[in-house]
Amino acid sequence: MQDNFKDKAASWDKGSTRVNGAKTIADAIQKNIKLDSSMEIMDFGVGTGLLGFEILPHVSSVLGIDTSAKMIEQLHQKNTPECFIESMNTDIIKNPLEKTFNGLISSMTLHHVEDLELFFTTIYKNIKENGFIALADLEREDGTFHSDNTGVFHFGFDADILYKTVMDAGFTDIKIENINTIKKPQRDFGVFLLTARKD
Ligand SMILES: C[S@@+](CC[C@H](N)C(=O)[O-])C[C@H]1O[C@@H](n2cnc3c(N)ncnc32)[C@H](O)[C@@H]1O
Repeated sequence: MQDNFKDKAASWDKGSTRVNGAKTIADAIQKNIKLDSSMEIMDFGVGTGLLGFEILPHVSSVLGIDTSAKMIEQLHQKNTPECFIESMNTDIIKNPLEKTFNGLISSMTLHHVEDLELFFTTIYKNIKENGFIALADLEREDGTFHSDNTGVFHFGFDADILYKTVMDAGFTDIKIENINTIKKPQRDFGVFLLTARKD
């Protein structure tokens, strides 16, 4: 499996923009979705767990999925017996999971997914009835967010196109809203949160 994050993993959590960005996403998820202690959640593209560890205290469990063994290695080092994220180093688009979840969360991973139609129809099957998805990523950008665009399939997202893709996969109650701005020297980048339900 291609690991585009192997050289970034060890220093990933040193980026304060990333750490604070994940906290902002977690706050926005909690404002939009009523989390509870019975919920089993998947964190798609869990990385080092920046979002997953924020959400874990409010739910029953978080299963982290990631194609990068090195990012998962960093996640393991942060696990404690009281605060533990199970993880799987796998590509669930190529090898779909049987398990279903009350919800799926994701931070800054969607732009690494090439085939969005396939992604949303695949994860639809992983969500229980009345479950939710909550994914945060970049609004449409000009390709300057990353210094190296290896493994970046989308320069952010157009809300109307994304809305239709999510609706076509079967999700309802779809909402896309701006929740953050990442300031870089070259320009500002908007971050959205997409939430939706499976009836
Ligand atoms: C930009 S990082 C974000 C990590 C973490 N969610 C965060 O906010 O710090 C993207 C993560 O998605 C993972 N990733 C990329 N494509 C993936 C895929 N198809 N399935 C699962 N994980 C993927 C990468 O390995 C990486 O850990």
